[in-house]
Amino acid sequence: QQAPVILPSVLSSDFSDMRGEVEKLEAAGVQALHLDVMDGNFVPNLTYGMPIVAAFRKLTELPLDVHLMIENPERYIRQFYEAGADIITIHEEAAGSDTGKILEEIKSLGCGAGVTINPDIPVERVLPFVDKADLILIMSVNAGFGGQAFNPVALEKLKTLREVAPPELLLEVDGGVNLETVQACTEAGADLLVIGSAIFNQSDYGAAIDELYRTAQVS
Ligand code: DX5
Ligand code: ZN
Repeated sequence: QQAPVILPSVLSSDFSDMRGEVEKLEAAGVQALHLDVMDGNFVPNLTYGMPIVAAFRKLTELPLDVHLMIENPERYIRQFYEAGADIITIHEEAAGSDTGKILEEIKSLGCGAGVTINPDIPVERVLPFVDKADLILIMSVNAGFGGQAFNPVALEKLKTLREVAPPELLLEVDGGVNLETVQACTEAGADLLVIGSAIFNQSDYGAAIDELYRTAQVS
Protein backbone atom coordinates (compact mmCIF):
# COMPACT_ATOMS: atom_id res chain seq x y z
CA GLN A 1 0.00 0.00 0.00
CA GLN A 2 1.31 3.40 -1.01
CA ALA A 3 0.92 6.74 0.77
CA PRO A 4 -2.71 7.88 0.48
CA VAL A 5 -3.73 10.66 -1.88
CA ILE A 6 -6.60 13.06 -1.20
CA LEU A 7 -8.82 13.92 -4.15
CA PRO A 8 -11.06 16.95 -3.61
CA SER A 9 -14.63 16.32 -4.81
CA VAL A 10 -15.35 19.59 -6.58
CA LEU A 11 -19.11 19.03 -6.28
CA SER A 12 -18.84 21.11 -3.10
CA SER A 13 -16.79 23.87 -4.75
CA ASP A 14 -17.97 27.28 -5.99
CA PHE A 15 -18.94 26.81 -9.64
CA SER A 16 -19.30 30.56 -10.13
CA ASP A 17 -15.51 30.74 -9.70
CA MET A 18 -14.13 27.49 -11.07
CA ARG A 19 -10.85 29.10 -12.07
CA GLY A 20 -10.28 30.52 -8.59
CA GLU A 21 -11.21 27.22 -6.96
CA VAL A 22 -8.78 25.28 -9.17
CA GLU A 23 -6.02 27.79 -8.43
CA LYS A 24 -6.61 27.41 -4.68
CA LEU A 25 -6.56 23.62 -4.94
CA GLU A 26 -3.36 23.64 -6.99
CA ALA A 27 -1.77 26.02 -4.50
CA ALA A 28 -2.79 23.58 -1.77
CA GLY A 29 -0.77 20.91 -3.59
CA VAL A 30 -3.61 18.60 -4.62
CA GLN A 31 -2.63 15.84 -7.05
CA ALA A 32 -5.95 15.12 -8.81
CA LEU A 33 -9.58 16.26 -8.88
CA HIS A 34 -12.68 14.09 -8.40
CA LEU A 35 -15.65 15.01 -10.59
CA ASP A 36 -19.14 13.71 -9.77
CA VAL A 37 -21.45 13.23 -12.74
CA MET A 38 -25.09 12.49 -11.81
CA ASP A 39 -27.98 11.93 -14.19
CA GLY A 40 -31.12 12.37 -12.05
CA ASN A 41 -31.93 8.75 -12.93
CA PHE A 42 -29.37 6.34 -11.49
CA VAL A 43 -29.22 8.74 -8.53
CA PRO A 44 -31.92 11.21 -7.43
CA ASN A 45 -29.71 14.21 -8.09
CA LEU A 46 -28.48 15.96 -11.19
CA THR A 47 -25.10 17.65 -11.41
CA TYR A 48 -23.11 18.23 -14.59
CA GLY A 49 -21.80 16.46 -17.65
CA MET A 50 -19.18 16.71 -20.35
CA PRO A 51 -19.01 20.53 -20.71
CA ILE A 52 -17.99 21.00 -17.09
CA VAL A 53 -15.43 18.19 -17.28
CA ALA A 54 -14.03 19.91 -20.39
CA ALA A 55 -13.96 23.23 -18.53
CA PHE A 56 -11.91 21.72 -15.68
CA ARG A 57 -9.65 20.18 -18.35
CA LYS A 58 -8.95 23.68 -19.69
CA LEU A 59 -8.27 25.05 -16.22
CA THR A 60 -5.78 22.45 -14.99
CA GLU A 61 -3.36 19.71 -15.96
CA LEU A 62 -4.20 17.75 -12.82
CA PRO A 63 -5.59 14.28 -13.51
CA LEU A 64 -9.41 14.27 -13.59
CA ASP A 65 -11.04 11.33 -11.81
CA VAL A 66 -14.58 11.17 -13.21
CA HIS A 67 -17.20 9.28 -11.16
CA LEU A 68 -20.16 8.44 -13.39
CA MET A 69 -23.39 8.04 -11.42
CA ILE A 70 -25.42 7.43 -14.57
CA GLU A 71 -27.54 4.69 -16.15
CA ASN A 72 -26.10 2.96 -19.22
CA PRO A 73 -22.67 4.55 -18.81
CA GLU A 74 -21.46 2.89 -22.05
CA ARG A 75 -23.34 5.57 -24.00
CA TYR A 76 -21.02 8.33 -22.80
CA ILE A 77 -17.59 6.80 -22.17
CA ARG A 78 -16.03 8.20 -25.33
CA GLN A 79 -17.47 11.65 -24.71
CA PHE A 80 -16.07 11.83 -21.18
CA TYR A 81 -12.73 10.69 -22.52
CA GLU A 82 -12.84 13.42 -25.17
CA ALA A 83 -13.83 15.95 -22.50
CA GLY A 84 -10.55 15.17 -20.74
CA ALA A 85 -11.16 12.44 -18.17
CA ASP A 86 -8.06 10.56 -17.03
CA ILE A 87 -9.90 7.99 -14.90
CA ILE A 88 -13.50 6.94 -15.53
CA THR A 89 -15.38 5.01 -12.85
CA ILE A 90 -18.73 3.34 -13.50
CA HIS A 91 -21.26 1.87 -11.06
CA GLU A 92 -21.59 -1.90 -11.26
CA GLU A 93 -25.29 -1.46 -10.36
CA ALA A 94 -25.75 0.68 -13.47
CA ALA A 95 -23.61 -1.33 -15.87
CA GLY A 96 -24.63 -4.86 -14.81
CA SER A 97 -23.42 -7.65 -17.08
CA ASP A 98 -21.73 -5.10 -19.35
CA THR A 99 -19.35 -3.97 -16.59
CA GLY A 100 -16.31 -5.92 -17.81
CA LYS A 101 -16.84 -4.82 -21.40
CA ILE A 102 -17.15 -1.15 -20.44
CA LEU A 103 -13.99 -1.34 -18.32
CA GLU A 104 -12.21 -2.71 -21.39
CA GLU A 105 -13.50 0.17 -23.50
CA ILE A 106 -12.31 2.72 -20.93
CA LYS A 107 -8.85 1.15 -20.93
CA SER A 108 -8.71 0.98 -24.73
CA LEU A 109 -9.07 4.77 -24.77
CA GLY A 110 -6.04 5.06 -22.51
CA CYS A 111 -7.97 6.06 -19.39
CA GLY A 112 -7.79 4.44 -15.99
CA ALA A 113 -10.82 2.17 -15.55
CA GLY A 114 -12.71 2.14 -12.25
CA VAL A 115 -15.74 0.29 -10.92
CA THR A 116 -17.75 1.18 -7.84
CA ILE A 117 -20.62 0.00 -5.63
CA ASN A 118 -22.97 1.70 -3.19
CA PRO A 119 -22.93 0.76 0.53
CA ASP A 120 -25.81 -1.73 0.26
CA ILE A 121 -24.14 -3.77 -2.49
CA PRO A 122 -21.94 -6.67 -1.30
CA VAL A 123 -18.24 -6.52 -2.13
CA GLU A 124 -18.57 -9.81 -4.05
CA ARG A 125 -20.11 -7.82 -6.91
CA VAL A 126 -16.76 -6.12 -7.65
CA LEU A 127 -14.48 -9.08 -6.94
CA PRO A 128 -14.68 -10.26 -10.59
CA PHE A 129 -12.97 -7.01 -11.60
CA VAL A 130 -9.93 -6.95 -9.31
CA ASP A 131 -7.74 -8.05 -12.22
CA LYS A 132 -9.59 -6.06 -14.90
CA ALA A 133 -10.00 -2.63 -13.31
CA ASP A 134 -7.28 -0.14 -12.40
CA LEU A 135 -9.31 1.16 -9.49
CA ILE A 136 -12.16 0.02 -7.26
CA LEU A 137 -14.14 2.73 -5.53
CA ILE A 138 -15.97 1.77 -2.37
CA MET A 139 -18.81 4.19 -1.66
CA SER A 140 -19.12 5.10 2.01
CA VAL A 141 -22.40 6.99 1.38
CA ASN A 142 -25.21 6.35 -1.07
CA ALA A 143 -24.12 7.99 -4.29
CA GLY A 144 -26.06 11.17 -4.96
CA PHE A 145 -25.16 13.96 -2.55
CA GLY A 146 -22.18 15.51 -0.82
CA GLY A 147 -22.22 16.04 2.93
CA GLN A 148 -23.66 12.68 4.05
CA ALA A 149 -22.48 10.63 7.05
CA PHE A 150 -19.78 7.96 6.54
CA ASN A 151 -21.08 4.38 6.49
CA PRO A 152 -18.50 2.07 8.15
CA VAL A 153 -19.61 -0.86 5.97
CA ALA A 154 -17.05 0.55 3.52
CA LEU A 155 -14.18 -0.37 5.86
CA GLU A 156 -14.82 -4.12 5.76
CA LYS A 157 -15.07 -4.00 1.97
CA LEU A 158 -11.75 -2.15 1.69
CA LYS A 159 -10.07 -4.70 3.98
CA THR A 160 -11.43 -7.60 1.94
CA LEU A 161 -10.24 -6.04 -1.32
CA ARG A 162 -6.81 -5.21 0.11
CA GLU A 163 -6.41 -8.88 1.01
CA VAL A 164 -7.52 -10.39 -2.28
CA ALA A 165 -6.70 -7.78 -4.92
CA PRO A 166 -3.34 -7.39 -6.65
CA PRO A 167 -1.26 -4.78 -4.82
CA GLU A 168 -1.29 -2.40 -7.79
CA LEU A 169 -5.10 -2.14 -7.78
CA LEU A 170 -6.01 1.30 -6.47
CA LEU A 171 -8.63 1.34 -3.71
CA GLU A 172 -10.63 4.54 -3.41
CA VAL A 173 -13.24 5.58 -0.85
CA ASP A 174 -15.85 8.31 -1.35
CA GLY A 175 -18.38 9.90 0.95
CA GLY A 176 -18.29 11.29 4.47
CA VAL A 177 -14.49 11.17 4.68
CA ASN A 178 -13.39 13.79 7.23
CA LEU A 179 -11.12 14.20 10.24
CA GLU A 180 -13.16 11.65 12.20
CA THR A 181 -13.19 8.92 9.53
CA VAL A 182 -10.09 9.38 7.39
CA GLN A 183 -7.66 7.30 9.42
CA ALA A 184 -9.99 4.30 9.51
CA CYS A 185 -10.05 4.48 5.70
CA THR A 186 -6.29 4.41 5.29
CA GLU A 187 -5.96 1.69 7.95
CA ALA A 188 -8.47 -0.37 5.97
CA GLY A 189 -6.28 -0.03 2.88
CA ALA A 190 -7.61 2.95 0.92
CA ASP A 191 -5.09 4.58 -1.46
CA LEU A 192 -7.33 7.38 -2.73
CA LEU A 193 -9.52 9.46 -0.42
CA VAL A 194 -12.30 11.49 -2.06
CA ILE A 195 -13.19 14.42 0.16
CA GLY A 196 -15.77 17.11 -0.51
CA SER A 197 -17.36 19.01 2.33
CA ALA A 198 -14.47 18.52 4.79
CA ILE A 199 -12.31 20.59 2.40
CA PHE A 200 -14.74 23.06 0.85
CA ASN A 201 -16.48 23.94 4.13
CA GLN A 202 -13.13 25.36 5.29
CA SER A 203 -11.84 28.75 4.21
CA ASP A 204 -8.22 27.57 3.89
CA TYR A 205 -8.22 24.49 1.65
CA GLY A 206 -4.49 23.95 2.09
CA ALA A 207 -4.74 23.88 5.87
CA ALA A 208 -7.76 21.56 5.71
CA ILE A 209 -5.95 19.16 3.36
CA ASP A 210 -2.74 19.21 5.43
CA GLU A 211 -4.67 18.34 8.56
CA LEU A 212 -6.53 15.55 6.75
CA TYR A 213 -3.19 14.12 5.56
CA ARG A 214 -1.71 14.29 9.06
CA THR A 215 -4.77 12.55 10.48
CA ALA A 216 -4.82 9.94 7.69
CA GLN A 217 -1.36 8.65 8.53
CA VAL A 218 -1.44 5.06 9.68
CA SER A 219 0.37 5.06 13.01
C1 DX5 B 1 -21.43 11.50 -3.56
C2 DX5 B 1 -20.17 11.85 -4.32
C3 DX5 B 1 -19.05 12.32 -3.49
C4 DX5 B 1 -19.32 13.53 -2.64
C5 DX5 B 1 -18.33 13.54 -1.51
O1 DX5 B 1 -22.32 10.89 -4.43
O2 DX5 B 1 -19.72 10.73 -5.05
O3 DX5 B 1 -17.87 12.48 -4.28
O4 DX5 B 1 -19.25 14.72 -3.35
O5 DX5 B 1 -18.63 14.59 -0.66
P1 DX5 B 1 -18.45 14.51 0.93
O6 DX5 B 1 -17.01 14.38 1.20
O7 DX5 B 1 -19.02 15.80 1.38
O8 DX5 B 1 -19.24 13.31 1.40
ZN1 ZN C 1 -17.78 10.76 -6.13
